[in-house]
Amino acid sequence: MLARRTPGQGTVCRLARLARLPGLDDMSDMGDLGGVVLALGGSTGDSPTAPPLAARDSVVRLTALIRRLAELPDPPRLWIASRQDGPAAATTGPRGVLRAAAYELPRLTASIIDFTSGTDLTEVAADILVAHPVIEISWRDGVRHVAHLRSGSPEEPAAGSRPLIRGGSSYLVSGGLTGLGLATAQWLAAQGADHLILVGRSAPTGDAEKTFARLRESGTVVNVVQGDIADSAVTARATAAAGERPLRGVIHAAGVVEDATLANVDEDLLHRVWRGKAEGAWALHTATAGQDLDFFVLYSSLASLIGSPGQSMYAAANTFLDDLADWRAARGLPATAIHWGAWARTGRGQHLADRGFVMISPEDGTDALGRILTAGHTRVAYSPIEAGAYAKGFPAVAASELLAEFGLAGDDGDSALLDEVLAAETDGRRTSLIQDHIITLTRQILGGTSQHIGPATSLVILGLDSLCAVRLRAQLENSLKTSIDPGVIWVRPTPAGLTEWIMNRMGLRSGEGAGA
Ligand SMILES: NC(=O)c1ccc[n+]([C@@H]2O[C@H](COP(=O)([O-])OP(=O)(O)OC[C@H]3O[C@@H](n4cnc5c(N)ncnc54)[C@H](OP(=O)(O)O)[C@@H]3O)[C@@H](O)[C@H]2O)c1
Repeated sequence: MLARRTPGQGTVCRLARLARLPGLDDMSDMGDLGGVVLALGGSTGDSPTAPPLAARDSVVRLTALIRRLAELPDPPRLWIASRQDGPAAATTGPRGVLRAAAYELPRLTASIIDFTSGTDLTEVAADILVAHPVIEISWRDGVRHVAHLRSGSPEEPAAGSRPLIRGGSSYLVSGGLTGLGLATAQWLAAQGADHLILVGRSAPTGDAEKTFARLRESGTVVNVVQGDIADSAVTARATAAAGERPLRGVIHAAGVVEDATLANVDEDLLHRVWRGKAEGAWALHTATAGQDLDFFVLYSSLASLIGSPGQSMYAAANTFLDDLADWRAARGLPATAIHWGAWARTGRGQHLADRGFVMISPEDGTDALGRILTAGHTRVAYSPIEAGAYAKGFPAVAASELLAEFGLAGDDGDSALLDEVLAAETDGRRTSLIQDHIITLTRQILGGTSQHIGPATSLVILGLDSLCAVRLRAQLENSLKTSIDPGVIWVRPTPAGLTEWIMNRMGLRSGEGAGA
């Protein structure tokens, strides 16, 4: 349908099935290929496939396509288009993938457009033919919306607000045996929850048992349900554990965080990340249908909101939570998805403190949770992150419409470096400019490490992992306006080796066009 609306004057639209993507090879021969539209399977609302699995399938298909496009010397613009009417659109997971891909594959310009049935597809097609920057467009009931992030400060609870926690009630926390889930369980008890149902696959650690003992001493009943939250038998057991005390609140904090660049992800990794998060959220949604809940909270991540290099699958799984919250809220069901930034002292993000991230203390995080629930938000991010610093060096991210309010577009403050390199009169000067730049970037990426970094220092031994390498490569490509092969940092892992490779790539040696 969309294809029929797409061709305008002089526009040719070719249809290809994703399964036959070798067809892309033919497309790459077409010098004037303006873009690729991946039309994903529409709403999953009335589909026989469970929404989280349908959304996961879209992620698999998109990832395969992105890999193909990224191999092309000049990747065509990519649009993801889909009809959305159900709890999770086919664009749900892909949105997270694209937000992360903007860091890893800055040469790929990719946007999303989704629409409810009844939308005039001529307008959708018109959008696709415009040279937008990275943009996310939703057509709802004939109205066009563009996703924008707005900054704000947490509200103070209004005087006389109703207490969040009711006596004689039960509260379920998935992933409640460790990390943020356990901190949340302690907070719930401190707010007066007298029955906690905590779900996790592993048995509680000794430290967790000590925490439970303290909670029990102060009068809270702690009920541990061991099992996979995505398994409907486990969710049934967990909700039944409420017994005489009705279930009033659900906090879905279960999740697996596993990072890999888009070039390295596979379906097993996607499955591990997807299971607890997306399938777990759906199982909880289904198991609590008809219960009179005060809140249903989904612990999402900043990664699904503004992307994060190396976290495409994790971001995708979190977008399922984000869209589920919107869908529930639209049906009058309690729903809050929180895009958390990194927490200090507990959970999987603790190490980010060493990378210079501003962290959320558990006290601050749980206090924010209370304020977010009192304010009644459906989708909210809580993070002290400075967006400009985070997106610096990633032009595709900075130029995204999503972050337009932050005024980051065009802020590639490093371009002066290229002018200086081109104006330098000797190879030695060019070498030291690039080398110093690599050292400065590495130091920043490693959170301001005080370790010595010299021209011969191995960045790998220094601690540069594949995700840091993605950042370094993207920032070098941006500041030197050249493309750097993905694997080169591993083959030339020192500032001197990398500089030599870049000098050759850019033809910067004397007599090879330097200073031209
Ligand atoms: N830490 C942060 O800074 C941060 C930032 C943003 C968002 N978040 C989100 O907050 C949540 C908690 O993160 P965290 O850092 O505290 O991670 P964590 O310490 O690894 O805790 C996650 C918990 O979920 C459980 N879990 C995983 N899959 C499960 C499944 N299928 N069924 C039942 N339990 C399962 C894990 O235990 P088992 O493996 O034994 O089941 C673990 O106890 C996650 O959803 C994460 O995405 C965290």
